[in-house]
Amino acid sequence: MTRTVVVSGGGTGIGRAVCAAFAAEGARVIAVGRREDVLKRTAAELTERHEGTGGRVLALAADLALPEEADRVRDEVLALGGPVDVLVNSAGGNVLIGASDGAAEGTAGAAWHWTENFRSNVLSAVLLTEALQPVIASPGGRIVMISSIAAYRGSGAGSYAGAKAALHPYVYDLAASLGPRGVTVNAVAPGYIEQTGFFGTSGLPTDRHDLLVGQTHTGRAGVPEDIADTVHWLASPAASQVTAQIIQVNGGAERGR
Ligand SMILES: NC(=O)c1ccc[n+]([C@@H]2O[C@H](COP(=O)([O-])OP(=O)(O)OC[C@H]3O[C@@H](n4cnc5c(N)ncnc54)[C@H](OP(=O)(O)O)[C@@H]3O)[C@@H](O)[C@H]2O)c1
Repeated sequence: MTRTVVVSGGGTGIGRAVCAAFAAEGARVIAVGRREDVLKRTAAELTERHEGTGGRVLALAADLALPEEADRVRDEVLALGGPVDVLVNSAGGNVLIGASDGAAEGTAGAAWHWTENFRSNVLSAVLLTEALQPVIASPGGRIVMISSIAAYRGSGAGSYAGAKAALHPYVYDLAASLGPRGVTVNAVAPGYIEQTGFFGTSGLPTDRHDLLVGQTHTGRAGVPEDIADTVHWLASPAASQVTAQIIQVNGGAERGR
């Protein structure tokens, strides 16, 4: 049976790799993000690449930190027909990366980055999940959040890490409430993943890259496919007994060196 999969942040990085993993099984994938041009390019490339499986990626532009936009996504997904088999919340990022000098200074700066990291990482996941929850396939539905190693180790200024950590109790509570419907809810917490938009257009400076790779036991940076494969497994029948879990994928870096 063709699955319907909604992936927030599906236009780039980890979300894009998640879209590719589901398109490869022949699923109908709806990629959601704010930049329509980016989404449309990803949708066209992945649909062409996975033509042989019948997998399709569709672009749906929305700012998921806004409740009315999350509701619109639900309405547009429902108009395509059928329940949502898998929801993957990959939208997010650290608003402090690439922020202008001084933006985070003082009380006003703290109010800004704590609010915006909460909107970007918590609201985007919670609002889409709340909007789609009634139409998640029951039984068999799967919800996966993308957290971060930062939830365990901090993120420098605390606001990004705190926002990711806030997803964990949401996973636990949602897993408990949706368990009787046969729906599992988990999070994947990546370590450093290169080939994403997370570090902005210039990427991570070489010394920082080397430091983060040096903290792994595997001796390499993660790639989006490392996360996508874990998400795809969580959404498979093989993981039907796995729920209310935060799965860390970081090459051992959380333990450090
Ligand atoms: N890369 C890493 O090292 C790393 C490590 C740990 C965790 N993560 C987490 O992994 C997830 C994916 O990030 P990534 O590394 O793949 O970076 P990315 O390429 O920048 O992907 C983030 C995506 O989220 C979308 N997005 C952000 N805010 C949104 C909003 N309000 N509404 C809708 N879409 C929104 C962005 O698209 P638009 O800008 O077009 O909206 C973008 O496509 C994030 O939650 C990030 O925090 C990343």
